[in-house]
Amino acid sequence: MNQLNKNNLLNQVEIKINQGQFSDACSTLYDGLSHIRSHSSAEEWKQFVTQYREHAVSQFFLQDPLTRRAFEKPRGYAGDPVMIDFVYDHDKVATPCARPTEISEILNCELNRIVQASHAVRERKHILSRKINQTAERVANPYILSVACGHLREALDSVAIQNRKIGKFVAMDQDKEALSVVAELIKDFGETIHATLIDLICDTVPLPSFDFIYTAGLYDYLPESLAQKLTSNLFNLLNPGGRLLIANYLPDTPSIAYMEAVMDWWLIYRDKERMQALIQQIPQEKINDVDMFVEKNQVIIFMEIEKVGGANAGSV
Ligand SMILES: C[S@@+](CC[C@H](N)C(=O)[O-])C[C@H]1O[C@@H](n2cnc3c(N)ncnc32)[C@H](O)[C@@H]1O
Repeated sequence: MNQLNKNNLLNQVEIKINQGQFSDACSTLYDGLSHIRSHSSAEEWKQFVTQYREHAVSQFFLQDPLTRRAFEKPRGYAGDPVMIDFVYDHDKVATPCARPTEISEILNCELNRIVQASHAVRERKHILSRKINQTAERVANPYILSVACGHLREALDSVAIQNRKIGKFVAMDQDKEALSVVAELIKDFGETIHATLIDLICDTVPLPSFDFIYTAGLYDYLPESLAQKLTSNLFNLLNPGGRLLIANYLPDTPSIAYMEAVMDWWLIYRDKERMQALIQQIPQEKINDVDMFVEKNQVIIFMEIEKVGGANAGSV
């Protein structure tokens, strides 16, 4: 797309905004950004993002509470647990000051509908709930570790958790505020641990071994060497037959352009090969199985690694 067409996109969106066609403005911008990103080099895309931020329409879209929180990063990064709550529960107002004006409501509703990544994040939560349930069917009173747990919202949907079928649930995060939300939820059968992934990598946190370890919304921020080392350390924490589940955004999905340009949310994307590379530091003979799957929106990929051993390997 040449410079004229790029300008044209932003001007078209501005006209639609001025005419009160907010829904149309959202989809025109969303599709247009995705088209530009997919036809640009990394350098051209960064230049265009600068151009976008200088255009009047960029201020308009910051009225969406989700977009604004990502852009302003009150906890230092985009994608904090409060922001993820906006995605999980569209009706829930996560902060008192987030009471929307009319335009912000329209934007929030419309963007929630068209941004596939939001649908995928909700689907990721459902998958995590199901995996917790399946673990409790596979192992009696399992030990489960959630790494970078956020608000652990998947626990609310899990029948195994509701029915107290968990031996011990450990929820780990760097964010003390997030852990204070989780502590109440798991107080009868678990504990929260305030730690960073560096603590996990350096083995400074004493932990038992687990039947299921999972992490969602963390690897998208991790460069290769750190991600490989963490994968190896988490795998070592598994019981025989235990499983490690890692989620990551896929590259080249349409939402990325909106996330980068409008939300200023830059992630590390992994395809199947890059996910497979994460297990390089684990000796092959210790792995029973590697299952790779993509959720129904085709935005997030999952890799589940099963350790050798265990009476019920492969049963659920
Ligand atoms: C996108 S949220 C995902 C939360 C939750 N897993 C979910 O799926 O809803 C990312 C979480 O990772 C945590 N996190 C980010 N970097 C971390 C690090 N280096 N060590 C520990 N936790 C980290 C954040 O505090 C945040 O709660």
